[in-house]
Amino acid sequence: MATKVTPLRTKEQRQSVRDLAAAEMGVLRFITCGSVDDGKSTLIGRLLYDTKLLFEDQLATLKKDSAKHGTQGENMDFALLLDGLEAEREQGITIDVAYRFFSTDKRKFIVADTPGHEQYTRNMATGASTADLAIILIDARRGVLPQTKRHTYIANMLGVKHLVLAINKMDLVEYSRARFHEIVASYLAIADSLGFESITPIPMSALNGDNVIKKSEAMSWHQGPTLLEHLETIQIADVRADAPFRLPVQWVNRPNLDFRGFSGTVISGSVKPGDQVVVAKSGKTSKVKALVTADGDLPIAKAGDAITLVIEDEIDASRGDVFAAPDARPELSNQFTANVLWMHEDALTTGNAYVLKIGSQTVQAAVTGIRHKIDINTLDKTAGNSLGLNEIGFCNITANQPIAFDPYKTIREGGAFILIDRFTNQTVGAGMIEFSLNRATNVHRHAMDVTKTSRSLIKGHKPAILWFTGLSGAGKSTIANLVERKLSAMGAHTYSLDGDNIRQGLNKDLGFTDADRVENIRRIGEVAKLFVDAGVIVTASFISPFRAERDMVRGLVEKGEFFEVFVDTPLAIAEKRDVKGLYKKARAGQIKNFTGIDSPYEAPIDPELKLDTAHAEAEAMADQVIDHLRQAGIIGSAGEPLNDFSI
Ligand code: ADX
Repeated sequence: MATKVTPLRTKEQRQSVRDLAAAEMGVLRFITCGSVDDGKSTLIGRLLYDTKLLFEDQLATLKKDSAKHGTQGENMDFALLLDGLEAEREQGITIDVAYRFFSTDKRKFIVADTPGHEQYTRNMATGASTADLAIILIDARRGVLPQTKRHTYIANMLGVKHLVLAINKMDLVEYSRARFHEIVASYLAIADSLGFESITPIPMSALNGDNVIKKSEAMSWHQGPTLLEHLETIQIADVRADAPFRLPVQWVNRPNLDFRGFSGTVISGSVKPGDQVVVAKSGKTSKVKALVTADGDLPIAKAGDAITLVIEDEIDASRGDVFAAPDARPELSNQFTANVLWMHEDALTTGNAYVLKIGSQTVQAAVTGIRHKIDINTLDKTAGNSLGLNEIGFCNITANQPIAFDPYKTIREGGAFILIDRFTNQTVGAGMIEFSLNRATNVHRHAMDVTKTSRSLIKGHKPAILWFTGLSGAGKSTIANLVERKLSAMGAHTYSLDGDNIRQGLNKDLGFTDADRVENIRRIGEVAKLFVDAGVIVTASFISPFRAERDMVRGLVEKGEFFEVFVDTPLAIAEKRDVKGLYKKARAGQIKNFTGIDSPYEAPIDPELKLDTAHAEAEAMADQVIDHLRQAGIIGSAGEPLNDFSI
């Protein structure tokens, strides 16, 4: 009888697969890696069809469909049991991964099957990202191929811990034991050092059924298990359950004034009423009061459980925050390294800002450097500063604000992210965080009693960053100086940060390469943020030529606290003024990387204020800035202290 397996189309069907996966600790998720030529379809056919291991309800649909669609003889059409992946689809990316499930009386299985073609690195990565085990298929006649290396590397990168080396088509090499051992040896030479927990080689003939389900008579020399035996019995450590508690907040559940809870799915560990929990970013702690679900309160919530967490104290947390175990908190950093898989025709370019989504957190981020690219066929590390479609690079990433994460290898869901194009809203990359680049690891935020609001109240105005950006000689420092004088005369508490001054102290180790400028602005941003926290209005006058860095500083403070002031002086005018004589030197080649000459300046797209210096006096432009601060409610109408303090 031929079979046609119906795709899992309805939400309910998909949900039932998820429930099954969550409820049954015994579920084994695996992925098959290999091409049709290696006998992949035949192998899956053996597992799914020959052994009649399909679910009851699936068999029912199957029968119905088969009657309708007729037979297809030996050539089985294993139509896809498609799982959700709705998120990716909404983001405009099609990933061809078929999830099929079957069960024996010993275990339930979910198998991710992906097209084996080279272009589809991302498909395999998607399938591998949830797999416990990968079956690497090898054609016994051809042995270890570049694609074998590629599959092994991706499985390893995506955190798959167990491998089956399925050496198939043994019937075509006369069931040769020597050939089997030869292939195993050459495979271990590449895979042994990668740190898999187990690699289990099995000689088989999927076509004849040798060692797939039934022990092979022709290969009685093989002492190990058949494929199915192995899949049924392999012990998979429940990494998620053993890892520390993490609950990313999806939304704050506040149906009425008497109830407030934080809803989301526990991604690792467990939590009970009475346990202490901490909000990773703010450092605020409280005790768990209840774990609410639609089916009543839970005595304990474990990885995979969707809950609403109710805590004893009124502490602030919102979508994107992560509740964690206080004695094992996630990393908190805006700089980290990650393996990035690029999924778009337009290459990833370093320095471009993308939207980075990790769990329920969304930030802006840029790949600030590619440490190396990985040649996916040879596994060689190569240099490069862009990533093309399906290429993988080990990258440094800077986000505009700290995110709470765990290394992907420790908690997959806590360290996997996607990159989205800010303009087209398409998913363009996926990444796995390796480690934080903050040198001070294990340093966590301590919540202070005197807050920004109380500090500001004493001062009678709100804090702000006035970020003056523009070419060298544009007039940034001149205008900022006038603004500070005016604010100071009104009794406001101010400070000014200025390029030339800071570069003689805090940043005297930095020059003018792109990387140094990025670091320059990062440090200034952090300093400006401290001033905001102190309740001060701080001016910052820096060329700050890159949009991504200015956006990064914007993200460091709260909405409404950052004012980008574009001091718009055309290059020709700045060069003509040449107050410091630097343009002349740059033109003469005596200064390298000079902004506007041989280093770029990216003008703001939508600044809070644009000052047209070619047509206005500095004094008038300073007044424009002050007016803007009044309108924004940072200072009172006539320099009066503010009464309404809702920071
Ligand atoms: S930024 O690009 O990193 O933001 P920043 O504002 O700190 O630059 O410093 C710019 C000042 O450094 C200029 O006003 C100028 O006086 C001086 N300078 C020296 N070399 C360069 C250069 N190659 N490019 C730009 N400015 C330079």
